[in-house]
Amino acid sequence: MDDPVLRRRSIRKYTAQPVLDEHVERLLRAAMAAPSAGNQQPWQFIVIRDRSVLEAVPEVHPYASMVPKAPLAILVCGDRRLERWPQYWEQDCAAATENLLIAAAQLGLGAVWLGVHPLEERADGLRGLLGIPRHVTPFALVPVGWPGEEKAPSGRYDEQRVHHDRW
Ligand SMILES: Cc1cc2nc3c(=O)[nH]c(=O)nc-3n(C[C@H](O)[C@H](O)[C@H](O)COP(=O)(O)O)c2cc1C
Repeated sequence: MDDPVLRRRSIRKYTAQPVLDEHVERLLRAAMAAPSAGNQQPWQFIVIRDRSVLEAVPEVHPYASMVPKAPLAILVCGDRRLERWPQYWEQDCAAATENLLIAAAQLGLGAVWLGVHPLEERADGLRGLLGIPRHVTPFALVPVGWPGEEKAPSGRYDEQRVHHDRW
C-alpha cells in the first residue's frame, strides 16, 4: 500500500531514534500547504523538543500519555490576529493537521492527532506550559517519532455512506 492517505494510522509508540530537523521541516511545509478560507493561513506551530515540557503534557491533557516518550511534538495553533474570515480557523487548522499527519506517514514517521480545541482546560493548560498569548489558541498536539508499533491500513470505506445525486 503506497498511498500515505490510506496508510496513515494513529501511532502512539516510538523508537529512541531521533527525528531530524529536516524531517520536521517537511512536516511543517506539508501543514502550511493546506487549504484555508480565503487563503488566510491562520496557523502557528510550536515544535516541542524540550523534555521537561513533553513530560508535563499529560498533566494538562488526559489522553497524551505517549507524549513524554516521543522525540518531539508539534502543537498546531490558531492565531486570531491572522484571521480574516471569522469562523473558519478551526477548519483551516484541521486541514493543516491532517496534511502534517499524511506527510509523516509518507516519510515513514509515526504520529497521532491529540485533540485540544475546543476543550478550554486543555488549551489553557498548554497555554500556561508554553507561554502562548491569549489571541493564539492551541488546536491539536501531534507527537512525532519513528514508529514503535505497526498498524494495518484501516480500510474504512463504506459504500452505504455514499449518496448519489440525492439522499
Ligand atoms: C479531533 C481528534 C482528536 C483526537 N484526540 C485523541 C487523543 O486525545 N488521544 C489519542 O490517543 N488519540 C486521539 N485521536 C486519534 C483517534 O483516536 C484516531 O484517529 C481514531 O481512533 C482512528 O484511528 P486511526 O487514526 O489509527 O485511523 C484524535 C483524533 C481526532 C481527529
